[in-house]
Amino acid sequence: MARRNIFLFRYFPTMKIDTKLNGDVDDMYCVHGHALNLCRTPIIECLRKILPSQSTHKTDQPVQIADFGTADGRASLSLINEMIDIIQTDLGKDQAIAIYYNDQPRNDFNLLSSVVEGEEKSSGLTISENVFPLFIPRTMYVQCLPNESLDLSISGVASHYLSVNVCQIKNGVFMGEGDDNEKRLMKEKGKADWRSFVISRGRELKPGGFLITLNASSDEEDDVTSQIDKGMHYLGSFITDMAREGIITQEEYLAINFNGHYLRKAEDFKEPFSSALPEVQGLGLELISMKSMKHHLDHTSFGIVDKDETEKLEYSRRIVASVRSWMAHVILGGLSTSRTEEEKMVILDGYFDRVKSYAYDHSHHRPYIIVTEVVIQKKNVAHGEI
Ligand SMILES: C[S@@+](CC[C@H](N)C(=O)[O-])C[C@H]1O[C@@H](n2cnc3c(N)ncnc32)[C@H](O)[C@@H]1O
Repeated sequence: MARRNIFLFRYFPTMKIDTKLNGDVDDMYCVHGHALNLCRTPIIECLRKILPSQSTHKTDQPVQIADFGTADGRASLSLINEMIDIIQTDLGKDQAIAIYYNDQPRNDFNLLSSVVEGEEKSSGLTISENVFPLFIPRTMYVQCLPNESLDLSISGVASHYLSVNVCQIKNGVFMGEGDDNEKRLMKEKGKADWRSFVISRGRELKPGGFLITLNASSDEEDDVTSQIDKGMHYLGSFITDMAREGIITQEEYLAINFNGHYLRKAEDFKEPFSSALPEVQGLGLELISMKSMKHHLDHTSFGIVDKDETEKLEYSRRIVASVRSWMAHVILGGLSTSRTEEEKMVILDGYFDRVKSYAYDHSHHRPYIIVTEVVIQKKNVAHGEI
């Protein structure tokens, strides 16, 4: 019990996404197919709405855009380049543009820097004399930029990560495997975090500005992201098996938790507005639209119905790639510090071998993600609707 209390409410230092290229695509593409592009239409529409007001200030005021929880920046790169192109076409090449990239301080900002600068497989951000990339290593659950500084904020598949770890999941790894109390604690933290996220972004936005987010979620049929047959939570069952078989200790089993609330539904995203929070109202924030989506992941092996041996192998490798980058840190974070690095790698590889062989045996499953797009505007309170 005492150990459990020490664990409660600690910040979550182990949260880290590994990013490397998997053949032709990067890790985040394997995880969700750069899902932020599913919001391309509202993002571009919102940008087009703010540009006319910007044209009155012209070049002395930069257009300011931010991506929260950006990881290595690859997932938003093409969208941000498209926005730069639109801004420069409409307002001219002299128009100053500031692009802020946010992630938690432990993120690999060196990698982000090389992606922005351009690398072997991509020419990077379209940086010119008047385009300024800036990095913000800070939790997105607090204000990250001065009041009324941003025109447009985006965030892809990041808001499910909770700001602190509020419980250990005793019989599993994922929130969906938690008991009622564990689920309640994570849900409450998720509610507070979403409020903080919305309010912080609201403070940063200029009047008339927009926040467009794509969030891991559940849908009205209680469906959740499903990289493997039986859904995301089933990825926890292999850890449970490893604990039962004595490959990891009971203490390690308790410490291996995915600290994410990916079970939010439409009503949870609406909550800061439906509860009429004074701060949300005072900032003039308005929920413009919300859309839940089921998006099938893209890989040639995923679409093949009757797979041969080679295709099953290819399929199972790709499923592991869609899980490894975000799940490895969850497992490593829970393993005892007394273990050698080699021991940890053997356990990690053992886990992913299990995922791979399960995927191989269930290769009929077509993996998908469930996400909810949320569009929020900060209304121009002084001058009425924009
Ligand atoms: C699944 S990745 C998504 C990355 C990228 N936005 C995309 O669309 O692929 C989630 C990102 O959220 C970041 N993240 C988690 N908690 C955060 C926090 N409190 N503040 C800022 N970023 C956070 C993680 O470090 C990670 O880079």
